[in-house]
Amino acid sequence: MTNSRIAGLGYYVPENIVTNDDLAKNMDTSDEWIQERTGIKERRYATKHKETTTTMAKKAAEIAIERAGITNEDVDFIIFATLSPDYYFPGCGVLLQRELGITKTEIGALDIRNQCSGFIYGLSVADQFIKSGMYKNILLVGSEMHSMGLDYKTSGRNVTVIFGDGAGAVLLQPTQEEKKGILTTHLHSNGIFAEELALISPGTHGGYHDKEDLVDFGFPDPSEHGGIFATQTMLDDGLMFPNMNGKLVFKNAVVKFAQVINEALTKTGLSKEDISMLVPHQANLRISQFIQKTFGLRDDQVFNNIQKYGNTTAASIPIALTEAWEQGKVNEGDLVCLAAFGSGFTWGSALIRW
Ligand code: COA
Repeated sequence: MTNSRIAGLGYYVPENIVTNDDLAKNMDTSDEWIQERTGIKERRYATKHKETTTTMAKKAAEIAIERAGITNEDVDFIIFATLSPDYYFPGCGVLLQRELGITKTEIGALDIRNQCSGFIYGLSVADQFIKSGMYKNILLVGSEMHSMGLDYKTSGRNVTVIFGDGAGAVLLQPTQEEKKGILTTHLHSNGIFAEELALISPGTHGGYHDKEDLVDFGFPDPSEHGGIFATQTMLDDGLMFPNMNGKLVFKNAVVKFAQVINEALTKTGLSKEDISMLVPHQANLRISQFIQKTFGLRDDQVFNNIQKYGNTTAASIPIALTEAWEQGKVNEGDLVCLAAFGSGFTWGSALIRW
C-alpha cells in the first residue's frame, strides 16, 4: 500500500512586522483587547507592489522543494490553496508554476478555495493522487496576502486584527514504508453558515443572497436581470471587506475541531494519548487552548505561533508545521495531527506518522 509523506516543507513570512499598537493608530482597538481575545501580538504584512500571494508562495515552495532533495522540474503537480489570490482568475496555481520556471513540463495546477481548511483539503487531494499512483512529487502550497483587502477603520476591527500574511509549502512523495506518512484525512463542510465568515462582494450575487433578502443597489430588480458584479455601493458600504460573526465562528470551531480530530483517531484505531504533536490551524489562540484542554494535551504537544503571525488562513498550518519541524518538535515516528476550521463553514483533519 502506498502512502504519501511530507518529503520537504518550508515557509515564508514578510519582513514587515505590524504590532497591535500599529493597528490602534487607525482604529479603536488596543493591544490588551487583541491579546486577551486572540493571543495575537503582531502579524506580518507583505510589501505592496513588490510581494503578492504568489511571490510569497514561491519562496516557501523553493525551500520545500530543496528540502525534498528534488528540483523544480521534478514537481509533477501543483495544488494552491488561498482566499486572497493575485487575480480573480486565473488562480495562483499557474502563476506559481510560472514563477518557479516549470512551464516547459506543462504539469497540472489546481486551485483550492477552502479558506482556513484549504491546506487540509489540498493535503487530502494530494494524498489521493499519490495513493492512486498518478503523481510522485506534488507541491502543495497555502499562501495569503490578507493585508491587501482589510478594513483598517474601526468598522473592520473585529476581523482586521486577526489576519496576517504569509506562505507555507510541502512537497509530497509516495512511501512504501508501512504505517508511515499520511494515515488518514477527513473533510467536512456546512454551507448553511456560508455568509457568517465571508467576503461576498464583488460576486455574481449582485448584492443579494436570495429573493427574500434583496438589497436595493439602485439597479433594476436583480431577480429579473441577474447579478451585478461590482457597484459603487458595494465600495461605499464596505461590502468588499471580509465580515465575520466571531461568536458563532468560535462556538462552531471548538465543537468541529474536536469532532474531526476524534474522527481521525477512530478511523486509525489510535487514541489522543498517541498524539505527539497537534498543529491546529492558527485561528485564535483561545480556540487552540480550548482544543488542547479537550484532548488533555500538554503545552509541548500543541504548536502555536499565532502570537507572531496572526491568522494566515490557508498558510497557517504549513507555516506552523514547518516551524515546529525546524525547532525539532516533529521527529521521525511522531504522530502529528493537523486540524482546521473556517469559512464555509469547512473543516478537516489529518493524521501523519512522521
Ligand atoms: N478591538 C476592540 N474592540 C473590539 C474589537 C477590537 N479589535 N473587535 C470587536 N470589538 C468590540 C465589539 O465591537 C463589541 O463591542 P460592543 O459590545 O460595544 O458592541 C465587543 O468588542 C464584543 O464584540 P464581540 O464580537 O462580541 O467579541 P467577542 O468576545 O466575540 O470576541 C472575537 C471577538 C473575534 C475575538 C471572537 O469572537 C473570536 O475569537 N471568534 C473566532 C474568530 C476566529 O477564530 N476567526 C477565524 C476563523 S478561521
